[in-house]
Amino acid sequence: MAGSMPLKYMSKLAGSRVLILGGTSGIGFAVAEAALEHGATVIISSSRENKLQNALSRLREAYPDPTYHARINGYTCDLGTPENLDENIAKLLAQVTKNSPSERADDQRDDPALLDHIIYTAGDAIKVTPVPDLTVDTIQRMGTVRFMGPLLLSKLAPRYMKKSSTSSITLTSGSQSLKPMPNWTAVVAYSTGTEGMMRGLAVDLAPIRVNCVAPGAVHTELFNDISADRLDSVLESMASATLVGKVGKPEDVAEAYLYAMKDGFYCFSGGLEVYTLLILCNLWRLEAKGISVFKSLVHS
Ligand SMILES: NC(=O)c1ccc[n+]([C@@H]2O[C@H](COP(=O)([O-])OP(=O)(O)OC[C@H]3O[C@@H](n4cnc5c(N)ncnc54)[C@H](OP(=O)(O)O)[C@@H]3O)[C@@H](O)[C@H]2O)c1
Repeated sequence: MAGSMPLKYMSKLAGSRVLILGGTSGIGFAVAEAALEHGATVIISSSRENKLQNALSRLREAYPDPTYHARINGYTCDLGTPENLDENIAKLLAQVTKNSPSERADDQRDDPALLDHIIYTAGDAIKVTPVPDLTVDTIQRMGTVRFMGPLLLSKLAPRYMKKSSTSSITLTSGSQSLKPMPNWTAVVAYSTGTEGMMRGLAVDLAPIRVNCVAPGAVHTELFNDISADRLDSVLESMASATLVGKVGKPEDVAEAYLYAMKDGFYCFSGGLEVYTLLILCNLWRLEAKGISVFKSLVHS
């Protein structure tokens, strides 16, 4: 133990500001807990006020120390209506940084209100639709929160972030992007599209790093739509398909997001060999239908 010396690894997020869209439940909520424990200020967001207040209460109860309470905040932002998407995200970013883009000069790199990291785990209920039943409307609906949301967020966010390689945006896809299940074509298309989006954004938003976490099956509130009498058998079947014999927990996958925030080299500034290793790791794990994989495009 290093006495009163700040710990080099544990303190990497200390004092940073982390916005988590989708932070009121499941994976995003676990990332909020993890970031708090690492000393960050967290701002969680989702579409429903009651769910937001419930999540804020759960965080405050889990971390009763007042020094934690000062680092917990949240705002609602609906990412499910295409007509208001730009406007809703812009409003959220302004609330979070107490400023509007017109008031903000591009060189305000050290403004303490600016964000260091943005995590995007927002995702609405998945309506699995067989290919013959797809329509323009169903396809567009499936992509509003998971695809249009992160793209428009990434358009607006840099003006509200510290322009540094220590800053990052982390998106979410899913292991189904490489290993589709029957009738998941549209979901798979958006997941794979999100990974392509990550590669493009990593180039366009540099030096802000952009990464993407692709979880396998994780037991979260996303499963709440499955009836109680079916849930156990669904989870058992998913668990039996993994090497470790269980589905993931949100706190397992939260580690991947922590890593994406903490490693200032993880993205376009890394080495090609890291990318190759991660791809191999992804394939092995997917082959085992395992817990979570994460990807980043790395410049050669
Ligand atoms: N769990 C898994 O097994 C798994 C596997 C692979 C990929 N993923 C992906 O990982 C992401 C997170 O999943 P999760 O399991 O953590 O889900 P979750 O527990 O259901 O959390 C989803 C979050 O998104 C928010 N959200 C939903 N609709 C929204 C909207 N219209 N506007 C703003 N926020 C909205 C929810 O809050 P509100 O309802 O209050 O809006 C909630 O905070 C999703 O994209 C999911 O597809 C999950």
